[in-house]
Amino acid sequence: KPSTFYRCGSLRNFAYTWGPPDPSTLKVTSAASQVAHAPPPMVLQENYKHSLLKSREQYDAMYKRSIEDPQGFWSDIGKEFHWEKKWHADHHSYNFDVRQGPIQNQWFKGGQTNITYNCLDRHVEAGRGDQICFLWEGNDLDRDRRMTYKEVLDEVCRVANWLRSVGVKKGDAVAIYAPMLCELPIAMLACARIGAMHSVVFAGFSADSLAGRIVDCKSRVVITTSGVMRGSKKVELKKIVDNALNICKKSGFEVDTCLVYENDNAIDKASCPWTEGRDRWWHDEIPKQSTEAAVEWMDSEDPLFLLYTSGSTGKPKGVMHTTGGYMVMAATTTKYVFDMQPGDVYWCTADCGWITGHTYLTYGPLLNGATSVVFEGTPTYPTPARCWQIVEKYKVKQFYTAPTLIRSLEGSGDQHVTSQDRSSLRILGTVGEPINPQAWNWYHKVVGEGRCPIVDTWWQTETAAHLISPLPGVWGQKPGSASLPFFGAHIAMVDEKGQEIEGPGEGYLCVKSSWPSTIRTIYGDHDRYETTYFAPFKGFYFSGDGCRRDADGYYWITGRVDDVINVSGHRIGTAEVEGALEEHPACAEAAVVGFEHPIKGQGIYAYVTLMQGTEFTEDIRKGLVMTVREQIGAFAAPDVIHEAPGLPKTRSGKIMRRVLRKIASKEEDQLGDISTLADPGVVETLLKLRP
Ligand code: PRX
Repeated sequence: KPSTFYRCGSLRNFAYTWGPPDPSTLKVTSAASQVAHAPPPMVLQENYKHSLLKSREQYDAMYKRSIEDPQGFWSDIGKEFHWEKKWHADHHSYNFDVRQGPIQNQWFKGGQTNITYNCLDRHVEAGRGDQICFLWEGNDLDRDRRMTYKEVLDEVCRVANWLRSVGVKKGDAVAIYAPMLCELPIAMLACARIGAMHSVVFAGFSADSLAGRIVDCKSRVVITTSGVMRGSKKVELKKIVDNALNICKKSGFEVDTCLVYENDNAIDKASCPWTEGRDRWWHDEIPKQSTEAAVEWMDSEDPLFLLYTSGSTGKPKGVMHTTGGYMVMAATTTKYVFDMQPGDVYWCTADCGWITGHTYLTYGPLLNGATSVVFEGTPTYPTPARCWQIVEKYKVKQFYTAPTLIRSLEGSGDQHVTSQDRSSLRILGTVGEPINPQAWNWYHKVVGEGRCPIVDTWWQTETAAHLISPLPGVWGQKPGSASLPFFGAHIAMVDEKGQEIEGPGEGYLCVKSSWPSTIRTIYGDHDRYETTYFAPFKGFYFSGDGCRRDADGYYWITGRVDDVINVSGHRIGTAEVEGALEEHPACAEAAVVGFEHPIKGQGIYAYVTLMQGTEFTEDIRKGLVMTVREQIGAFAAPDVIHEAPGLPKTRSGKIMRRVLRKIASKEEDQLGDISTLADPGVVETLLKLRP
């Protein structure tokens, strides 16, 4: 068997052929999709007035211009930033049609800027250096820290100088594997200052996954911390990094330098594993650096960062974003969707290991001169009141989280919410998965006391910024609908044949033309980029999601229609979990599907065929789950392991996932036509073995 490392590294070639999506996946039976048939009454938030947009008509006019004259529309907005060199008059071009040649996107071509300069220096130079940039709240109740814009700029410059001192240059990749300390966004901003691409790897990924990502982009430098406390659990991050670096070495790629921040609350210097020569302490290296670091002026289309994300097949994809368009769109969506003013205290609960932590914890809020809360801990530690204690403590104005957290807090009881003062809250946001109307209503009524509009923002790692979202106070909200497209998002819905559907209906969610923060490529694999996003429906970017459009033009996202599952807002490829399960010596074959989960949105359901002669025991089951935790990370651990002496396959050997999904969701009365199965008897056996 090939090792996982090869699966997630760059060393093995995958066949990723993309046929049209399986139409059966379009019928998603989540609560949100059911209500989409008959839109419920809108919740009008008349008490909230958007500070920039005065009316729906104003939005309509701006939206129309953003689609008809994208270059003019975004040029006007681009002027709000510092550009060392102005872009060309004709700065935008793109091709979304594989039949017309290579897919490409260009925005602000000819311009030169630097996103860190715009996030930090610009505000400090305008005399706002003393304003709070990050409010850091530790895992434990008694630990917090505040950093002004000037302090963050100084630290970013020190790290930037250090990166240069160890040989990092423009265009190099730097891997960051760290918990939510201020040092994480600081390290990202330092990379961007010198033109290095940051590749942040969520610190819940395993050593194998980290190694695959390091090797794929050849990051010679890794930034990490000794460890972290997550609730009452200690995680030895440096140990995981060491394992990852050993795996890299075995594959022939060696990391030169590892910068380690001592998070002594979890693991102190003395108990942190160490490799002389390669490892350096942040505290020894960074404070001695100068607080002046020249800015690397970047062409608009120079890469800004890589972020690996799961696809329906093969290894995780290194999604690449570039500088100019990303900067402008991150800032603009943050400004309009969160109605953000400089100085607003804003809290996004996402980790910087995901795209939300990039765009809406780091770049978006800082570009707007806001104060961004950085929370190290978990939202229910020490009690389920923690989020609302933080809201009360810092007087948070905009709060942004995932539906899974809302559902879990709803289940803990209203008293944890109502015991804290939430009068500072003005806007509540959600992201990552469809929100069911019940959770929406609880969020609106209990958390927001009925006065805060909810922005249900639809977007992806690939879009880098919101593409469909309510604008608070500008139009009525429907619980469970992300509502209308953001400026510049040319949303289209298509049928199986790729024909655009106008008016109300149901179809595949696509985008018809380039927006400034479009994914530019998959790192090192432009073919895969074209095949994944642009080949399924010619002339469109395909999101992988299904959706409905109602009579008011509102969009209802029904979920992924490919083999990607969304667990607690974390995107996981079924192929990755299958590959991990197959690492277990007793596993002959595995097939993974998603199923509806009351808290997590979707859970992971794994069918496993054991090696001949192996008995399915509790130990084997636990071992299989453990293997996935080790291969990918704890967040990808299957919820259900279903013994499968045989899998339902067609005569050509293709697994019929439709059948597996129906069994997982206990809808075996709706299996549909199974006459094309090579052995229809396997279905009966599976039903008998239901765990
Ligand atoms: O299925 C959609 C879901 O999350 C996917 C993107 O995942 P990722 O790239 O990890 O980015 C998550 C943060 C943007 C989408 O394809 N998704 C995201 N937002 C929503 C959503 N589904 C429904 N409603 C949303 N608001």
